[in-house]
Amino acid sequence: MVEKSYLVTGGSGFLGAALARRLVEMGHRVRVLDNDWRGSRERLSDLVYDLEFVEADIRDARAVDDAVKEVDTVVHMAFVNGTAFFYEQPDLVLDVGVKGIVNVIDACRRHDVGNLAVASSSEVYNEPWKVPTDESVPLTIPDPLNPRYSYSAGKLISEIMALNSGRAHFDRVVVFRPHNVYGPDMGWHHVIPEFVTRASRLVETQPEGKIEFQIQGDGRESRAFVHVEDFTDGLVRVIEKGEHLQIYHIGNDEETRIDELVRHVFAYFGRDYKIVPGKRAAGSPTRRCPDIGKLRKLGFAPGIPLKNGIKGVIDWYCKYQQANEA
Ligand SMILES: NC(=O)c1ccc[n+]([C@@H]2O[C@H](COP(=O)([O-])OP(=O)(O)OC[C@H]3O[C@@H](n4cnc5c(N)ncnc54)[C@H](O)[C@@H]3O)[C@@H](O)[C@H]2O)c1
Repeated sequence: MVEKSYLVTGGSGFLGAALARRLVEMGHRVRVLDNDWRGSRERLSDLVYDLEFVEADIRDARAVDDAVKEVDTVVHMAFVNGTAFFYEQPDLVLDVGVKGIVNVIDACRRHDVGNLAVASSSEVYNEPWKVPTDESVPLTIPDPLNPRYSYSAGKLISEIMALNSGRAHFDRVVVFRPHNVYGPDMGWHHVIPEFVTRASRLVETQPEGKIEFQIQGDGRESRAFVHVEDFTDGLVRVIEKGEHLQIYHIGNDEETRIDELVRHVFAYFGRDYKIVPGKRAAGSPTRRCPDIGKLRKLGFAPGIPLKNGIKGVIDWYCKYQQANEA
């Protein structure tokens, strides 16, 4: 293997830290840039001597310029993630998203970094007209006044800027669209941690009987969850083998209904439950499942089905829930 040097922006985040760890394990040189807004350096605490950490805001052009010096590849993942933030702080989502991609592209061009991989998201489809959804399905912003779409708009801008700049100024630009990655320490503002922490509290406060469990929607909505280990395998393949100006889904094509996810969670606790349907968040898509044919062609196959992967995640959230609530 040829040793390469990578900059991972957003590298103390859930996915960035998993990638940074994997690249170090593969023998590469890794620099991470993050301001720990949502990331945590703890995730990389055992690697302090194996990688370089730059604490900086992706909106700080000079800091980004310094950070790209002498790297071969930039993997740009710094972004405001977490659905609650899209609704509550849309201006921040766009500020970080747009200034971030501008600074990354400018810095790469100034320092002749030839390889750029940019994280987009399944959110760019919003309600996809086709499920499983392949990379050619049109991207949509159904309502500019709905703050949720600040995130997909930021991703759309990032994709288009990276691809168009890539055509003229890079050896290789790839865009990857993660689809609902889950794993231990994935953050608290996502459906799996939210279900697990709420279910575990209910199990504790109601030691007997059927537990009423409120959800958004009626349970027939779907997502396709990919374990972080599988995700990282997929991302490494995209970074190593992805073709110039191509877009790749990274996910699992196991479509899972939300009532099935609830079933997995209560099976873990060994308790009977009843789903109480509720209002869906404005703009939340009804179905989501990626077609991962393009990634499969790079040799990827998801290895961890949700029913196996979720156990370790519930263990983690039960263990750290009290510390988080303290
Ligand atoms: N986790 C998923 O399922 C998923 C799905 C689709 C897309 N994505 C995208 O993948 C990437 C990684 O996601 P994640 O799950 O690790 O999210 P995350 O929130 O854990 O990681 C994002 C990182 O960006 C950092 N960041 C935020 N604002 C910053 C700023 N101003 N300057 C520097 N760093 C900043 C955060 O501190 C955090 O460490 C993001 O771009 C996200 O939008 C993730």
